[in-house]
Amino acid sequence: MATTLSFTATILLSYALILALPSSPSNLFTDVIYPNFTASHFHFIKSAGAFLASPNGTFQASISSPSSRKSSFYLSIIHVGSNTTVWSANSDSPISSTGPLNLTANGITLYHNNGSLTWSTPPLRSAVTALKLLENGNLVLLDRYDAVLWQSFDHPTDTILTGQSLRVGTMLASAISDSNLSTGDYRFFITNNDAVFRWKDQHYWSLSTDSQAFKDSNADVSYMGINGSGLYLFSDDGTVVWQVILRLPELGMAKLDSKGQFSIFSFSDGEKKLEFVTPYDDCRLPLICGPLGFCTNISVCTCPSGFHHMNDSGCFPADGSDLPYSACNSNSSLGYLGLGYGIKYSIDRLLWQTVNSLLACQDLCSKNCSCLGFFYTNSSSSCHFLRGELGSLYATSDDGTTSGYIKTLGLLSPPNANSAYRNSRRDFPILALILIPCVSAFLLAILVGFVWWRRLRNSKTPVVKLGRQNSSFKDPISIPGLPVKFKYEELETATDHFTTLIGSGGFGAVYKGTLPDKTLVAVKKINNAGVQGKKEFYTEIAIIGKIRHANLVKLRGFHAEGGQRFLVLEYMNSGSLDRSLFGEGPVLEWQQRMDIAIGVARGLDYLHRGCEHKIIHLDIKPENILLHDYSQVKISDFGLSKLMSSEISSVYTTMRGTRGYLAPEWLTHSAINDKIDVYSYGMVLLEIVRGKRNCSFERQNSNGRSSSSACSSFYFPLFALEMHQQRQYLELVDPRLEGHVIDEDVEKLVRIALCCLHKEPNLRPCMADVVAMLEGRRPLSNPRVESLNFFRLYGRQSAELEMIEDDVSLHPIAAASSASPAMGPSPLFYISSQQLSEPR
Ligand SMILES: *[C@@H]1O[C@H](CO)[C@@H](O)[C@H](O)[C@H]1NC(C)=O
Ligand SMILES: *[C@@H]1O[C@H](CO)[C@@H](O)[C@H](O)[C@H]1NC(C)=O
Ligand SMILES: *[C@@H]1O[C@H](CO)[C@@H](O)[C@H](O)[C@H]1NC(C)=O
Ligand SMILES: *[C@@H]1O[C@H](CO)[C@@H](O)[C@H](O)[C@H]1NC(C)=O
Ligand SMILES: *[C@@H]1O[C@H](CO)[C@@H](O)[C@H](O)[C@H]1NC(C)=O
Repeated sequence: MATTLSFTATILLSYALILALPSSPSNLFTDVIYPNFTASHFHFIKSAGAFLASPNGTFQASISSPSSRKSSFYLSIIHVGSNTTVWSANSDSPISSTGPLNLTANGITLYHNNGSLTWSTPPLRSAVTALKLLENGNLVLLDRYDAVLWQSFDHPTDTILTGQSLRVGTMLASAISDSNLSTGDYRFFITNNDAVFRWKDQHYWSLSTDSQAFKDSNADVSYMGINGSGLYLFSDDGTVVWQVILRLPELGMAKLDSKGQFSIFSFSDGEKKLEFVTPYDDCRLPLICGPLGFCTNISVCTCPSGFHHMNDSGCFPADGSDLPYSACNSNSSLGYLGLGYGIKYSIDRLLWQTVNSLLACQDLCSKNCSCLGFFYTNSSSSCHFLRGELGSLYATSDDGTTSGYIKTLGLLSPPNANSAYRNSRRDFPILALILIPCVSAFLLAILVGFVWWRRLRNSKTPVVKLGRQNSSFKDPISIPGLPVKFKYEELETATDHFTTLIGSGGFGAVYKGTLPDKTLVAVKKINNAGVQGKKEFYTEIAIIGKIRHANLVKLRGFHAEGGQRFLVLEYMNSGSLDRSLFGEGPVLEWQQRMDIAIGVARGLDYLHRGCEHKIIHLDIKPENILLHDYSQVKISDFGLSKLMSSEISSVYTTMRGTRGYLAPEWLTHSAINDKIDVYSYGMVLLEIVRGKRNCSFERQNSNGRSSSSACSSFYFPLFALEMHQQRQYLELVDPRLEGHVIDEDVEKLVRIALCCLHKEPNLRPCMADVVAMLEGRRPLSNPRVESLNFFRLYGRQSAELEMIEDDVSLHPIAAASSASPAMGPSPLFYISSQQLSEPR
């Protein structure tokens, strides 16, 4: 008896010991955990705190610490492949490595070591029977009917994932930093018509301001979500209200980061890739340079004139006066420091009022003790007040009618003795007395030297007169948004002395290169950079560099020294569409062709209406459509015609490759607008369907000048029109596809193509409508036969037209409005053969 008792006691004792000391670390569970479970970082130290993995292991629920110091632990969900925290429960009250998590029938609770409650799920309507981590990263509590009682997707922190939605009225809140998950100062809210960004309750950005966001409907927004095709704001019934089109393979993640920027990443094959960021320009972030810091370049913060830096915490008046933080009742004298024109404030939608003068505006600010300064726009007599806390400033080239004024408090009152920086500021005048003469002498010397140097230089080279639009830039370096500038040596190294030629065209040769960070690039040497000045080139580069769209080739950087101009572009591994479509390689599948058609349409639509500056491509053709892995499609060479002198670019447009894609208005008096690209796009669509050029020219060289024979007697667009009239669309399909096509898609592409080819530009759809028709969001339009009959003429008389085209190319069409001197007033495509035979 006694032995049994002692035996039982021993067992109980050892059992208690095991319970008390979590000595043996536990193994990670998969998919599901049942109540009466307890965990801590320490328990699961073997798996770095992870206690539950999703079925395929994409995500883990973990009690872990993002900082290297390992002092603060959070219940988090982590994307394993990229080690990214996508959700955390107790952001503002971390626990220690032994702080337990208990899962009971009442939900999840986290405790401090001393047993006090840190965080728990809210009261639930019935008992919990399981905790699951789903493959999409959602942590859910289920009842015995497998109904969801609570889920992490309903309580996002700073991140949402594919499949998760953020409802109107809810928000993302930034973390203080990547290693401190406590709630920071930035918020991202969904409102009923937008998604807005706030810093300490001040509005600084909105999704609708981003040039990649498109509005699709006027319905009220109900929630935001991301899926494989981008970021969407949806209405109640699932109508798209706003969209940002992206390609997010498998999994996407959108995050509001600790600086206030909202970024979208994609994950595939364990790689995390940045797909979209807004505001794109770091200078638009409210505190990027500290209070009143002036942001002119991603990494360059300066102070506006009249201000100087103080302990990395922004800028302060250089005259020693104070900024009005809470000095409302002080005896100090009020003053204002002007910022001048061309400087904007990172916070927009400031409280404003119409006044009748700058003085009236200043008066209002002086009377209001919470007013920290103001921006006055004299063209509209509006006065915008700065309140709350001061943010950063950024450069703008907008207008010369808005200027800022910052309120300052003079030093009438005795300085506060225990404030260190005031003491240092009192020393300023003494120091200045010594420094100013030295500095002035030095500056004078530099100035004299510079003037002398300029003279010397100008006597050799004629001064290039710069356009007005650039006159506000003192130095090209200050053009905002300029992409990376490469040195010539860097390009030489990247391309291994320009050894691998991957293409050449009207602009010059293209070489393959590898940057030091191992990314592949295409380095394009621009021949004939024209007479254009460097600053104009920089301005264009800055515009092109800012364009970011899934279907447009990204500009990585450039080089412009001496007469040399290079562009460094994203590398596309499958070359241009003409090679895949007309070449010998594998035949493009129908679905790939559809994807290419839609991709090109979206890219063009974006150029036409998505960018700050509308861009007409002017040279859409398969050679300018690049593929990556035969599936991603991007348009290249946009904006480049602006980099050439107008003389060269017009010759280039008529002479080079464009024959066959040229809209009739090129050859007539009509003004040229974005519909010219729509026409070329229509031609490309037909070629995508057929897998062959619409019109093949045979090249024959005579006296070095390449002239073309007629587009053979068979003119495919005309055939397409006839087949459309007979509704025999399948006759038009590339025979190499052996009928593996979707009949409705073929009809769709042909009908859209014909609409794009209407002779009158205003009868062609805009690219936005083309995209909507391709995506099935808009009914297909009917091609107008009467507006396509010019094909018949073209088909019959192509030989004679060739002669005219050759003539035209000798008389470049310089600009949209000016007529070509060689041509009579009648539109080319209606010239009768009689007219053609008359002397020209
Ligand atoms: C958490 O669960 C463990 C084991 O079930 C238990 O010993 C502990 O008392 C629980 N903690 C709290 C604070 O309820
Ligand atoms: C994403 O949502 C949009 C809008 O509902 C839809 O048109 C699109 O097909 C979706 N994309 C994917 C890949 O599911
Ligand atoms: C302001 O100055 C007046 C007279 O100089 C003095 O009586 C008063 O105490 C001062 N107030 C503050 C807040 O310093
Ligand atoms: C606004 O200010 C600018 C610069 O001082 C000045 O040239 C312009 O005439 C002013 N416009 C109006 C409407 O007052
Ligand atoms: C911005 O600053 C970086 C780093 O100082 C510099 O390399 C780059 O050339 C600057 N760009 C512009 C446009 O000033």
